[in-house]
Formats: sequence, C-alpha cells, structure tokens
Amino acid sequence: MSERVKIVDVGPRDGLQNEPQVVPLETKVELVERLADAGVPAVEAGAFVSPKWVPQMADSAEVLARVRRKPGVAYPVLVPNLKGLESALAAGVEEIAVFGAASEAFSQRNINCTIAESLDRFRPVAEAALARGLRVRGYVSCVLGCPYEGEVDPARSAWVSEQLIGMGCYEVSLGDTIGVGTPGKARRLVEEVAAAVPVDRLALHFHDTYGQALANILACLETGVRVVDTSVAGLGGCPYAKGASGNVATEDVVYMLQGMGLDTGIDLDALAGTGAWISERLGRPNGSRAGRAISGR
Ligand code: HMG
Ligand code: MG
Repeated sequence: MSERVKIVDVGPRDGLQNEPQVVPLETKVELVERLADAGVPAVEAGAFVSPKWVPQMADSAEVLARVRRKPGVAYPVLVPNLKGLESALAAGVEEIAVFGAASEAFSQRNINCTIAESLDRFRPVAEAALARGLRVRGYVSCVLGCPYEGEVDPARSAWVSEQLIGMGCYEVSLGDTIGVGTPGKARRLVEEVAAAVPVDRLALHFHDTYGQALANILACLETGVRVVDTSVAGLGGCPYAKGASGNVATEDVVYMLQGMGLDTGIDLDALAGTGAWISERLGRPNGSRAGRAISGR
C-alpha cells in the first residue's frame, strides 16, 4: 500500500469567507457534502466567529445542521473564543480549530488581541472542548511572512506551535497566509518548527498568491509532513490579509501526490467536478489548473 497524505479541504471556510457575494446556504451545504463524497477525509465547514468581522460565515450553525455527515469524515470549524465554542457545541460540532499567529500585527487585525492574549483565550476553549470529547486543531498564521510586518522569525512560529500543542491541540497547521514563501524558506521553517513539535503533528496551509504553494508543499513533504490544507478550485483569500489569494487548489495537490505515488483516498474526477461546479455557482474562474484540465471547465 502506498504512503498516505491527509488532505484537509478548507474551501467551504477559508475559500468562502472571502467571497464578496452572499453564498446561499444550500450551495455551502452542497459543497461540503460533495467534497466528503469525493473522499476528502476532513472538510472545514465553517467558522463560529463574530458575524460583524466575517459576515460570510454567519450561517455556519445552519450549514452544520444541514450537512449530511459522512461517517469517518471530520467537519472542523474555526472557534476564536468561548462564545464561539458554545455555538459550535450547540451545532453538534466534533472538531474545532483555534487560530493564532506568529505576527503581532496580524493577530491584532485578525482577532483583535496580542499573541499572548490569544493563547490565554484559546487555553480555556481547548480545555472545555477536550472535556466534551472534541478534537482541537491549531493554526499559526503568517509563518512565512506578514502583510503588515514583512519577515517573520521562524522561532516565533515554533514557539506559538509549541504553545498550541501544549494546550491540547492534536495538530498545528502552519499558515503561509499571504502565500509569499518559497521552497527553501518553507522547508527551513518546517524544520525549525519540527524541532519544537513532532513533525507528524504538523500540517501545511499554504495560500498560492505568488504561485509557489505546490513547490513549497513538495519541499516540505521531504521533512516528513503528511497533512496538507487545500481549497477546491483554489477558492478564497483572507479578509484580514488584503491581496492574498486562495489556498493551493485541492485538485492540483491531489494530482501531484497521485503522480508521486502518494495516496489521498480522493477520487480526482469527482473532486475536479466539484471544483468546476462551485466555480460556476460563484461565477468565478476555476482556480485549479489540474481541475480545468480534467473537467474541461
Ligand atoms: P472583538 O470585537 O475583540 O470581540 O473581536 P468582543 O469579545 O469584544 O465581541 C465583540 C462583538 O462580537 C460582541 O457583539 C460579541 O458578542 C460578538 P456585540 O455585543 O457587539 O453585538 N462575538 C461573537 N459573535 C459570534 N461568535 C463569536 C463571537 N465572539 C464575539 N465567537 C473576535 C474578537 C475574535 C470575536 C473577532 O476578532 C473575530 O471574530 N475575528 C475572526 C476573524 C476571522 O474569522 N478571520 C478569518 C479566519 S483566520 C484565517 O483565515 C487564517 C487561517 O486560514 C490560516 C492562514 O491562512 O494563515 C486560519
Ligand atoms: Mg488560510
């Protein structure tokens, strides 16, 4: 059996959170279901954040209520504080993600507090979630650069990652929020974080603003990382990182991994069909090269 790489499709959250138009509830639900049906093992389905900050995620409770949940598939949601956890629990969520940053300026713009304050806020959230049997994931944003501060010291990412693991996160996802990384830098970053946190508890979350994400993933796979966050059709951006484009497209990553003999458990044709479908629904070009080649759209 070939070695496995786990794909976490964050399109329904990271992708849609930045859509300027109102995305109908049914479209969100269908996107989550189609991704799970295509074999994606984890689909980030929403965010329990302030609707004033991110209006597009305001209906996450309804999305979670309507989605037909497939056994064995995880449907994590973002949770920034105890209020978000309360709503997530009411919606029957089984996995949450807290999201911090390696850059102070980004932390302020994204969640309105310092890095230290965010960690103090996440600790009781993680504790309460774990006590109720939920799984908790952690994010670190701006690991390869910040839209406000520029270069970010990898030691900061390593330290924040260690804190997140220390409070009970089963995994930390390293976010190149604005997609500025290049392969050597990305690999060195992962190596430095892996000195503080076991590499099998790290994930890659690379936005593709500069077209480097696939190359960066390839370089980082050499460190032993086996979890990659992606977004079908390359949907998305970040409302607090102006100019950032979506995550690397799921179809492109799955195509590359299949070619390398790495198994994802995903049906690439079904995935490409989903990418073409959501692009049409949103009236935007399909951001996946592999997806366009396979689906013809
Ligand atoms: P704040 O204004 O400091 O919070 O925002 P507050 O506690 O003072 O509350 C202000 C208002 O928000 C109150 O309502 C609260 O009730 C409400 P009001 O009294 O004014 O009517 N509120 C909430 N409502 C619903 N759910 C909640 C919640 N919390 C407070 N959970 C806060 C702090 C964290 C809430 C805010 O900054 C926020 O929601 N930020 C979220 C930003 C966000 O979602 N960004 C995008 C996701 S992160 C990302 O994309 C990066 C990632 O992909 C990785 C990468 O690429 O690097 C993960
Ligand atoms: Mg992101």
